[in-house]
Amino acid sequence: MKSKQAIEIPQTEGIKYAGSKLKLLPHILDIAAKTDSKTILDGFAGTTRVSQAFAKSGYRVISNDSSIWSKIFGLCYLKNSESVEHYESMIEHLNNLTPIKGWFTENYGGSPDTRESSKVDGLKKPFQTHNTQKLDAIRDEIADLDLGEVEESVLLTSLILALDKVDSTIGHHASYLNQWSARSYKQLKLEIPKIFQTDESHEVSRGDIFDVIDKCEADLAYFDPPYGSNNEKMPPSRVRYSAYYHLWTSIILNDKPEVFGKAKRRTDSSDTKASSVFEEFRRDENGKFIAANALEILLAKTKAKHIILSYSSGGRATARDLFAILEGVGDIIEFVKIDYKRNVMASMRWTNDWTREENSQNEEYLFLINKA
Ligand SMILES: C[S@@+](CC[C@H](N)C(=O)[O-])C[C@H]1O[C@@H](n2cnc3c(N)ncnc32)[C@H](O)[C@@H]1O
Repeated sequence: MKSKQAIEIPQTEGIKYAGSKLKLLPHILDIAAKTDSKTILDGFAGTTRVSQAFAKSGYRVISNDSSIWSKIFGLCYLKNSESVEHYESMIEHLNNLTPIKGWFTENYGGSPDTRESSKVDGLKKPFQTHNTQKLDAIRDEIADLDLGEVEESVLLTSLILALDKVDSTIGHHASYLNQWSARSYKQLKLEIPKIFQTDESHEVSRGDIFDVIDKCEADLAYFDPPYGSNNEKMPPSRVRYSAYYHLWTSIILNDKPEVFGKAKRRTDSSDTKASSVFEEFRRDENGKFIAANALEILLAKTKAKHIILSYSSGGRATARDLFAILEGVGDIIEFVKIDYKRNVMASMRWTNDWTREENSQNEEYLFLINKA
C-alpha cells in the first residue's frame, strides 16, 4: 500500500477526448494506492492517460479499449523499448516531406482564404489544406517505411498528436467549427511522443471488455465506460466514440474508406454499425437502461479483487440504479465526487448524501469497490 505523501502525479500525454480522465488522475492514483494492487486493468483506456499514469507509478498495466486509436497509443507508451534518439531522424524525415494532395485533403481540407468560414462546397472542414497535404504525404510515407508495429505506433501517435494541435473542432469529429480555429492556421509539426520505459512488462489489447475480463488476471480493474462527457459542448448521452473519432481510425488504417454525411464519416462508423452497449441510451423491455444493465454484468463478471469505477452525472444510470448495482457487487470502500463547475471534491458517506442530492451535469464520481 502506498502512503498518501508518496503519490506523485506523473506527466501523461494525449489527444482531446470526450471523457478523458486527465483531471481525475490524482484521485484515481490516490484510490489505487489504497489497495495492495500490483497489476491493473485499464478496461476502457481511451487516450491511455490513466494507463500511462499507472505505468509510471510502478504498476503493471493491462491497457484495453475497443478503439483502434487507443491500441496505437497503448503500443506507443507502454510497449516501446527504443530510445528517443531512435525516432529523431524518422520524425525529421516526415516533417520535411513535400506535401501532396491526396485522400485526406480531398475530404477534410479547407482553404483559409476567408477568415469567415471553414466551408468548402457547403461543407465545414476540420483542417486547413496546408496541413492535410502534409498529412497525405506523411501517412503514405509511414506505410512505406515498413516498420514494426510498435515503431509505427510511435509515429502514428506523433502524427495524431500533431493534428490534434491544428484542428478546427471542439474536440471530436462528428461536426466541425463554422469558422477556422486560431490553431488551424499553425503548421503541422510532428514531435517525438513523450515515451518512457518502466521495469514492468505491460500488455495492450484492442477488444470488447467482455472478451477481456474472462482471461484477465489483474488485482485491480479500473473501469471508465462511455457514459458521459464532462465537456458542456458534448451532449453526455450521445457520445459515440467510433463516430466522434472516425478520422483517427482512417489515419491509422489508411484505408481511404467510403464516407458519408456532412462530417464525411467512415461508413463503418455509422450508429447502426458501430456502437457499444455502454453507449446505448435506450431502456430494455423491463424499463431498465441497457447501459446500466451492461455495467451490472461487467462488475459482476470481473474477477479482480478491487474495482475503481468512474461515473459521470450525465450518465444513464441514476444514483439509485448505481447504488443497487454496486451493493450487489461488493463493499464500497470509497466514494469521491468531483464537481468541475464549483471545482470542489468531496468524499462522503455516499448512500445518503448522493442519492438525496440533485446532481449537477458537471460531476464525476469515483468508487472503490472490494469484490465480495
Ligand atoms: C470515457 S472513455 C475512456 C477515457 C479514458 N479513461 C481516458 O482517460 O482517456 C470510454 C472508452 O470506452 C471505449 N469503449 C466503448 N465500448 C467499449 C467496450 N465494449 N469495450 C472496451 N472499450 C469500450 C471507447 O472507445 C472509449 O475510449
